[in-house]
Amino acid sequence: MLWNTGLEVGVPQIDSQHKELFRQVDILMDNSKKDRIPETLKFLGNYVVKHFTDEQVLHAASKYPKADLHKGYHTKFISTFNDLKKEFDTSGQSLPTMLKINNTVVNWLKDHIMVHDKEFATYYKNR
Ligand SMILES: [Fe+2]
Repeated sequence: MLWNTGLEVGVPQIDSQHKELFRQVDILMDNSKKDRIPETLKFLGNYVVKHFTDEQVLHAASKYPKADLHKGYHTKFISTFNDLKKEFDTSGQSLPTMLKINNTVVNWLKDHIMVHDKEFATYYKNR
């Protein structure tokens, strides 16, 4: 599993959704589950939007000063993900495309959680 406790932010709702995101990415990267890639990408695309929305609700409810900035990161990632999904839909399940999708999603998630979600969690827990 790509998720590890170092990625925990300490807000249970956010942590459980992050775990689910990584569980889905694990499926994408599992060679023995290649036939599940199209449905997993579809699920991931929808789940990411739901997760971001839930985070943004928490931001608004707690009057997080960086809410707009954070929402901008989410919006940009959704557009990156949609571009990757389009590439997958047109060029198919090629190895370079899958590597690009996996690397982009994993790296973005890890960086975003470690910096921006943790920053919010600290604010949220100390407010
Ligand atoms: Fe976030």
